[in-house]
Amino acid sequence: MTKICFLKEISKHCLLFLQQKRDMELIKDITEVRSLFPALSQSVNGKPLVYFDNGATAQKPDCVIELVNKMNSGINGNIHRAVHELSARTTELYEASRESIRCFINAGSREEVVFTSGTTASINLVANSFSQTFLKKGDAVLLTEGEHHSNIVPWQMACERHGAKLRVLPVDENGCWKMEFLESLLADGKVKIASVSHISNVLGVVNPVEELIEACHRFNIPVLIDGAQGIIHSSVDVKKLDCEFYVFSGHKLYGPTGIGVLYGKKEYLQKMVPWMGGGDMVGTVTFEKTTYADLPLKFEAGTPNFIGAAGFGEAIGFLAKIDKNFMKKHEEVLVAKMLEGLASIDNLRLYGISDRKISLFSFNVENVHPTDIAMLMDKMGIALRSGMMCAEPLMSRYGVSGMLRASLSVYNTVEEIDYFITSLKRVLKMLS
Ligand code: ALA
Repeated sequence: MTKICFLKEISKHCLLFLQQKRDMELIKDITEVRSLFPALSQSVNGKPLVYFDNGATAQKPDCVIELVNKMNSGINGNIHRAVHELSARTTELYEASRESIRCFINAGSREEVVFTSGTTASINLVANSFSQTFLKKGDAVLLTEGEHHSNIVPWQMACERHGAKLRVLPVDENGCWKMEFLESLLADGKVKIASVSHISNVLGVVNPVEELIEACHRFNIPVLIDGAQGIIHSSVDVKKLDCEFYVFSGHKLYGPTGIGVLYGKKEYLQKMVPWMGGGDMVGTVTFEKTTYADLPLKFEAGTPNFIGAAGFGEAIGFLAKIDKNFMKKHEEVLVAKMLEGLASIDNLRLYGISDRKISLFSFNVENVHPTDIAMLMDKMGIALRSGMMCAEPLMSRYGVSGMLRASLSVYNTVEEIDYFITSLKRVLKMLS
């Protein structure tokens, strides 16, 4: 049976991670933060880049780029499978990253941290594996109106397979969950799982997940939190949250693309059958029967993205070096500045209004197509997202076919917001 190895090195790595948090001189300066991200100093269309599409993917710090390059150019051997030095080193990096991530989200054990290719893959894993064991004809899955397609479609597919139905908690005009409907959606005992976003990729408000988890638990309903956006803007403690599953991606959290995490409570992961079969997820294999590896490898069939996983671990280490108070205060300043700037534009409608607003802003300007704005802003060096944001039901809810989104990160500045607002006003003049 495949076993997680190199435990000594792994705990050393975690100690180092925790040590960094306690004793290190933490970064508290925006210029220093920016200097660590080489992508930020480039020009795009002849203008200095203003990267406001962090909700889609974040730029990478030097340390992540260096580790990924080092691995691609030498420290490269398939993990868990061989006794040679290169395999040992990549295995160590892979498992050390798992441990860093465990510490980062305060999971109880490494068995509860499964590597996937991203948030979408993590939700698909749960939608398939959980549903096979727990979802029957006549059951229901609870979502909200604010979900990304990746937290709708996998569940819809699972419901179709098992004869279950989706139930949807609506959002109000401001983009906040209508919690008054929750109890009635849960009361008949048909909902077998709730799967909801911590922060919607469109609305940018922190959802009351604690309250929802508490309500679901009263009905013995497990909860999956889609943390793709949430984990970027708040520290996540899965024990405190008490959710059954928490999923997120590496590339939005300054790590490489193609790597993500499924945190799951052991009691659930143990009962769930694997979704994908292949190498490294087995105990024994005969043509008659296969037994599965222990957690978490049971859910990691095939050669995983071990370079991406190691890079993700490095990104988590990088985050540990940035002062949390600085990050929080900086984001508050960015949010206030952006709200003030957007409010100064006529006929602009912002979606997602709450005192729990994070630095992600989706909006429309009356009679102007969001993609036209995004294209002209790109000419000014400003990267935005436009369109349906992979959230068509939410677009329908607001009666629009698309929106424009500016999503900011720890390395963005108030000067960039000034430039963004001035440029937006110029563009709107050009389009009117
Ligand atoms: N989910 C990502 C976004 O919202 C891709 O842009």
